[in-house]
Amino acid sequence: MTARHAMTVRVLWLLALGVLLGTPAAAFADSRTPGRAAIASAHPLATAAGHEILEAGGNAFDAAIAVAAALAVVEPNASGLGGGGFFLIHRAKDGLDTMIDARETAPGASTPGMFLDASGTPIPRLSTDSALAAGIPGEVAGFGLLARKYGKLPLARDLQPAIRLAREGFPVYPRLAGGFRFKLAAFRDQSEAARNFLANGEPPPIGFIIKQPELAATLETLARGGADAFYHGALAHTLVEGVRTLHGIWTEADLAGYRALERKPIIGSYRGARIISAPLPSSGGIGLIDALNILSGYDLAKLDATTRDHLIIEAMRRMHRDRAIYLGDSDFVKVPVAKLVSPAYAASQRASIQLDHATSSASLGGVDSPPPGQHTTHFSILDAAGNRVAATLTVNLWFGSGLVVPGTGVFLNDEMDDFAVKPGTSNAFRLLGSEANSIAPGKRMLSSSTPTFVEAPRGLMIAGSPGGSYIIGMVLLATLNFMDGKSAQEIVSAPRIHHQFMPDVVEFEQGALSSEEQAGLEKRGHILQGTSRRWGNMEVVTWDYASGRVEAASDPRGDGEGRVY
Ligand code: DON
Repeated sequence: MTARHAMTVRVLWLLALGVLLGTPAAAFADSRTPGRAAIASAHPLATAAGHEILEAGGNAFDAAIAVAAALAVVEPNASGLGGGGFFLIHRAKDGLDTMIDARETAPGASTPGMFLDASGTPIPRLSTDSALAAGIPGEVAGFGLLARKYGKLPLARDLQPAIRLAREGFPVYPRLAGGFRFKLAAFRDQSEAARNFLANGEPPPIGFIIKQPELAATLETLARGGADAFYHGALAHTLVEGVRTLHGIWTEADLAGYRALERKPIIGSYRGARIISAPLPSSGGIGLIDALNILSGYDLAKLDATTRDHLIIEAMRRMHRDRAIYLGDSDFVKVPVAKLVSPAYAASQRASIQLDHATSSASLGGVDSPPPGQHTTHFSILDAAGNRVAATLTVNLWFGSGLVVPGTGVFLNDEMDDFAVKPGTSNAFRLLGSEANSIAPGKRMLSSSTPTFVEAPRGLMIAGSPGGSYIIGMVLLATLNFMDGKSAQEIVSAPRIHHQFMPDVVEFEQGALSSEEQAGLEKRGHILQGTSRRWGNMEVVTWDYASGRVEAASDPRGDGEGRVY
């Protein structure tokens, strides 16, 4: 019997047992192995870094560290050691699904009103463009936990490709060149950023080689001393001193007290598929399941395109309203998670949806209510054994706060803006928040990151994207497209629609809605806003169980690369 036959026999046997025991087939996804690895990330050099580590004997978790560290070097506008994020992981050998929460925390000296003036009004740009905007970073602690508990190789080996990229440099590419132009004034204001990223005070041209010796030295410190070296000792001291020089409030105790946490993912189901996604402090999983639960009351495939769009928009509206009202760090506030992801709750949400008419967001009540920003990164990895990682990592807006901590090459995030700086007012993504997401020392700010696994009868999808408030809706559309049989490339390329409760408008990319659909939606009372802007940078890996085909695709809106090995 060949190995392949042995595998087939094993799978059939397990499926038969499953039928006898009444176990859902999805539970057997792990009895199959893809036999091939795939990585989709926002930069070819990051994808290559992950491949190098797989070739060196690492697993998907080692590759995730290598990809994330490489992205910190080649995509500093989007994520980095000074930021945080979420690593959703699946371990093939025992089917464990878990999430490493490496989200930033509010510094110990932070207060609910820290971004408000004496009259209680938010001070423009303080929560986005200053050192006060920086939460205590979690990404490095996430690397530490991943390497220690799940990886096969030493952290030092996983960091090698990133160290090389930082030392030897990489060429400026179009999106990054655009980012440099966008942040030019801020970079010129800070000698540290200017020294690291500008060429004689000017944005470097495409193809210019960016070398980051200070970031390389920081990464080497982590390779020598482990992730702890970021949170204790000389590097921690330099980081805190640097932040305080920039008028921030970090203390060494804040860094020493930071922990990456493991959390149980949010699990839901949609039309026979098992959906595994990010729990709080990200709103992603709850939002995705909430919307899918609402939509599971309809047979979308049997509906005309306009009715289908209408229902997806109404589901997005209701899911985003719940996000605004209820969601925040559940270690600090009580959040009715079980209710929000329950089918009964979705049924009550559905009851207010009219098939022929848009519900106005104002009529739903909730939080009373300014343009969306860019950047963050996502990557998806599947290794040959079936281990998976979906990771969404961020410094929040372009280059975070735009401030580099002197001598470290590390950009400070501006994640504090993801808190409800003043409950009832919106943030840089026009997202509303309530008391549940107000600032408190040690609390994690609510995220929209939606790293997700979809285990469907047809196969597996590993997906996620940057895009701030657009993220949950993007992953919702990706899930629906995957369920409809679309390929990885079709899923990342598909034009997108978006609704986030407030403002009460439907945004759509070119090509997302035909003129007939537009007319039909307007007739139902939707306010449409077509835009030439395109959003997101989705990275998807899929594995088709029947054919064994593995695909990896990177969003054509970005410069990334998906590769199957
Ligand atoms: O965690 C969040 O939800 C935001 N900090 C993500 C920001 C983002 O995706 C920016 N990208 N376009």
